[in-house]
Amino acid sequence: MVPETGIDPDCATLAAHGIQLPRALHRIVRRVLIPPAALQERVREMARLLAEHYPPESEVVVTPVLTGAFMFAADLGRALAQESTLDVHFALTKAGSYGAAMGVDGSGVRTVIIDLQPSDVAGRSMLLVDDILDHGFTLAALRDRLSAWGVRNVQVCVLLNKQLEDPEPQILAQRAKAAPDLVGFEIPDVWVAGYGLDAAGSLRHLPCIVSVDKDT
Ligand code: IMP
Ligand code: MG
Repeated sequence: MVPETGIDPDCATLAAHGIQLPRALHRIVRRVLIPPAALQERVREMARLLAEHYPPESEVVVTPVLTGAFMFAADLGRALAQESTLDVHFALTKAGSYGAAMGVDGSGVRTVIIDLQPSDVAGRSMLLVDDILDHGFTLAALRDRLSAWGVRNVQVCVLLNKQLEDPEPQILAQRAKAAPDLVGFEIPDVWVAGYGLDAAGSLRHLPCIVSVDKDT
């Protein structure tokens, strides 16, 4: 069961978690969707579930999709090593189809650029870690690339799955192709930031996931 975000309203403000921000940023934060403790607890649970997919004592290459997944993947990789006898390696990839601005209009062709060498991963077991599944372009492209390179056993995990309100058929197809094996949390169709995810470059450092007002 993937947890839904529906938290105690007392935990919905940054102040409740002792977090301060410059005023201009504080204004764009709507509410805390996933508090720090809930994130950490789920990361550990995910590590336990993922460990079962790799033979004990074997090697697994954890591949965070930068930049958004860096914090989640660091915690998940360490939890994976603590919860198993796996030999955990890291190989970073940068992949993106978004610009610096928030959101996309869904039209036009988007190129996914993947910065990973076949020699980093061919013939190895992998754990691909992304921050969020939105339209699915990034993960679908990565899955294609990895299977072409002969990666043996790839698990795809995302921290957040955005439940899109009214997706077009081609977006649904893309998301189906991305097909994460494990999702951390289901979230509503809003812009979120924190724990590695950004709002126009800011808020990546937050220890929680917040919803952001992208129109201000
Ligand atoms: P997709 O390829 O359309 O699934 O987009 C996935 C990428 O877009 C993620 O890895 C994020 O980097 C970024 N992204 C999508 N939605 C959000 C959001 O709400 N906040 C921050 N980044 C997001
Ligand atoms: Mg990303």
